[in-house]
Amino acid sequence: MDLYDVIHRRRDVRAQFTGAPVPTETLDRVLAAAHAAPSVGYSQPWDFILVRDPELRRAFHEHVSAERKVFAATLTGEAAERFAGIKIDGVLESSLSVVVTYDPTRGGPAVLGRHAIADTGLYSACLAIQNLWLAATAEGLGVGWVSFYREGWLAELLRIPAGIRPVAWLCLGPVTHFEAVPDLARHGWRSKRPLTEAVHTDRWGSAPT
Ligand SMILES: Cc1cc2nc3c(=O)[nH]c(=O)nc-3n(C[C@H](O)[C@H](O)[C@H](O)COP(=O)(O)O)c2cc1C
Repeated sequence: MDLYDVIHRRRDVRAQFTGAPVPTETLDRVLAAAHAAPSVGYSQPWDFILVRDPELRRAFHEHVSAERKVFAATLTGEAAERFAGIKIDGVLESSLSVVVTYDPTRGGPAVLGRHAIADTGLYSACLAIQNLWLAATAEGLGVGWVSFYREGWLAELLRIPAGIRPVAWLCLGPVTHFEAVPDLARHGWRSKRPLTEAVHTDRWGSAPT
């Protein structure tokens, strides 16, 4: 698949997981792509926890359901109605999960390029996630990012050492198909922002030339 095809085919998947196994070699390629991401000071601050245990996944899913209620309680009217119809995770239906963590001490104490912007470490972990997402798409696998969780709770569940942050819970696996339109757009939650609104020239607010 052409790179641009992959970029535009990629979807956040929740409802289309088949639950079929992911071949080891495929998973290795996807993880190698994630591990090839750029990172500030070449710190490679990520780790990947493959969560296969159904009990751990069930426990996480219950936690996500509770957090869903917390968010739902902040909504009223039309937004509340819309959100009620939106599926926010495929934890139980996907083949496995990959939790991506960020270790701020990796490559330290002098991380080249991070002295002025601490967040660059976290950006690096997110680039690994994006590589994983695109590689999975190229392999015909769906990925669903779940962020309805409390970091401390998840760290305890997976025995992640103190100081290391769980950045993402990613559901992964074969899918029946990729939707052409993001779920949140299909449900009328948010629509696509035109590229022309996002591009500025020279200074904030100036239209592109
Ligand atoms: C940091 C991050 C966290 C997200 N968390 C969730 C989530 O908890 N549940 C969910 O359904 N989608 C989640 N998403 C997916 C977004 O809703 C999705 O990317 C967006 O609606 C655009 O759809 P697309 O990825 O299919 O293009 C998350 C995406 C990102 C980048």
